[in-house]
Amino acid sequence: MVKKKTSTNTQLNLELPAGSKKRSYKKRKTTGKGRNPLKALSPISLQSGKAVLRIKNQDCFQGLKSLDAESIDVIVTSPPYNVGTGYSQYDDKVPRGEYLEWLNQWAEQVWRVLKPEGSLFFNVGGVPSDPWVPMQAAATVAGAGHVGLMHQAERFKFQNSFHWIKSIAIDKKNVGKNTQLQDDIAVGHYKPIQSPRFINDCHEYIFHFTKSGNVPLDRLALGVAYQDKSNVARWKSAGKDRRCRGNCWFLPYETITKRSKDRPHPATFPVQLASWCIKIHGANKDSLVMDPFLGMGSTALACAELEIPFLGFEIDQEYFKICRERLRTRRNVCYDCFLPVPIKTIFIYLLVNWGDSD
Ligand SMILES: C[S@@+](CC[C@H](N)C(=O)[O-])C[C@H]1O[C@@H](n2cnc3c(N)ncnc32)[C@H](O)[C@@H]1O
Repeated sequence: MVKKKTSTNTQLNLELPAGSKKRSYKKRKTTGKGRNPLKALSPISLQSGKAVLRIKNQDCFQGLKSLDAESIDVIVTSPPYNVGTGYSQYDDKVPRGEYLEWLNQWAEQVWRVLKPEGSLFFNVGGVPSDPWVPMQAAATVAGAGHVGLMHQAERFKFQNSFHWIKSIAIDKKNVGKNTQLQDDIAVGHYKPIQSPRFINDCHEYIFHFTKSGNVPLDRLALGVAYQDKSNVARWKSAGKDRRCRGNCWFLPYETITKRSKDRPHPATFPVQLASWCIKIHGANKDSLVMDPFLGMGSTALACAELEIPFLGFEIDQEYFKICRERLRTRRNVCYDCFLPVPIKTIFIYLLVNWGDSD
């Protein structure tokens, strides 16, 4: 019998700042503002086309443990970055060593549930005053234990890196002659910084981790047309007028008028970012996509659009409710497709009211 390769239980060799104590992540409060965890809301299942989308108001550590080994095809996720983001419950500023140990234990579970040919798209950004966070988080998830030993990581292989570009300035003269561009342009949004020390941060990383480093992708699923059509005949993919988009993905946030109404979560990625990860992996309607840090559900919405089965966990009730509402109001998603009409009415009533009373 061939023994399946399992992830090594990577020990983190973390140098903690002087004075900080190494604590077990289990003792960590998820309710950073001193509140007790609230009673979880009921999980829900929705349907988009034939795909079932399941979301749970649950700590993903518990959720991951309940899943079968090698049951997930694609994970698209963004953990808290530990940079002091003002989440409603989660404490996003703990000692760095504690944060990385938490991620290490999370990655151990993620390794267990991911299929051998699966992909983990791990989105992390830094802040100008702390730009190492993404590298440290990535090294930890890969199982390097130490950034300096990333190339010897014992868990995931670093198959591709993507850059999520939130804003970009393009000079017309650099674009070439085949362009409709009238002038230089600067497009997209970012949080402006006042300090003269730093440059505005307009990008985040998406680390593409796999178990083998050798998972075939569907590059042309996100292909773009050649600018110079003479290349169509010259290259191997001739006849298609389609080339790989590359790893810099310009995905601006939608313009919003009121943050609290239009984007009521402090750290989201665009739905299209999740869609692109899912497409480039080559996922199909038999795949299962997961986001263990659901937030307000961008990956769930991408799966709803693509009609691909989905599973997500979110620890915070408020964000879970927003995610549920975003999914519910999507055109092609229904709560109750399987049910006869009289039962549907009762079902919708229960769904809307159940679990919200505490
Ligand atoms: C960076 S945000 C994800 C945002 C998401 N990608 C989106 O676009 O809406 C991280 C989320 O993880 C949630 N979270 C933190 N710890 C968690 C845990 N142990 N289990 C599940 N969710 C958790 C936080 O409440 C937060 O909403």
